[in-house]
Amino acid sequence: MRIVLVGPPGAGKGTQAAYLAKNLSIPHISTGDLFRANISQGTELGLKAKAYMDAGDLVPDEITIAMAKDRMEQPDARNGFLLDGFPRNVSQAEALDEMLKAESMTLDAVLDLEVPEDEVVKRIAGRRICRNDSSHVFHVTYSPPKTEGVCDICGGELYQRDDDSEETVRRRLEVYHTQTEPIIDYYRAQSLVVTISALGKVEEVTQRAMDALKNKC
Ligand code: AP5
Ligand code: ZN
Repeated sequence: MRIVLVGPPGAGKGTQAAYLAKNLSIPHISTGDLFRANISQGTELGLKAKAYMDAGDLVPDEITIAMAKDRMEQPDARNGFLLDGFPRNVSQAEALDEMLKAESMTLDAVLDLEVPEDEVVKRIAGRRICRNDSSHVFHVTYSPPKTEGVCDICGGELYQRDDDSEETVRRRLEVYHTQTEPIIDYYRAQSLVVTISALGKVEEVTQRAMDALKNKC
């Protein structure tokens, strides 16, 4: 099963992807997590990406597409994947189509998470992530860790992402509306889009997503 997850920053893509990937036995591929892992390892790719991320802008396509392609070619992704944060503009969507076509593969669904902007702002303001692995995600009120400041999964230190400042979040939302939202129409033309509300408890949203995907895959 090959699925693309789309939605504004803070919609809960990473949170849902962790559950959905487990339920569907496919790898969760997040370009944001891949960039953050490169930044914490101090790689050249991480150095290139950091300035764009800190400003709330998209990392240039040539860097992002090569990194995503490399990850999708790993053996664990051969039978499917859940893409989170990629593609993020129409040219990335076209590049993904080309990549899949070359392997005679297609996407099964594009899951669009809908959340009002005021809720997104609350979710981002309270988000804390793990120094060891940015896919370990908590929220100070909605899903607090058992011990304040400590990751339940690995014991790592929790911190607030550099790009979660109010100013950068505003820019990320603008980038989402102008550059990422157009991919929803691009995929609608391929009849791939299922839209669900991402409001409510995490497990309610997961159930809604699983029900929506059942009709697509
Ligand atoms: P990325 O890491 O992809 O960030 P994003 O899309 O802005 O999404 P977020 O990670 O902010 O939010 P999310 O939807 O995953 O929400 P989460 O589950 O954490 O990208 C970061 C940057 O990398 C970009 O700005 C760009 O610079 C670069 N980049 C990445 N991909 C790129 C690409 N393809 N091209 C170019 N550049 C790229 O949840 C948020 C909070 O809410 C958490 O605290 C969580 O606990 C809480 N929460 C989740 N669900 C619920 C719920 N149901 N109820 C209450 N709280 C909830
Ligand atoms: Zn952790």
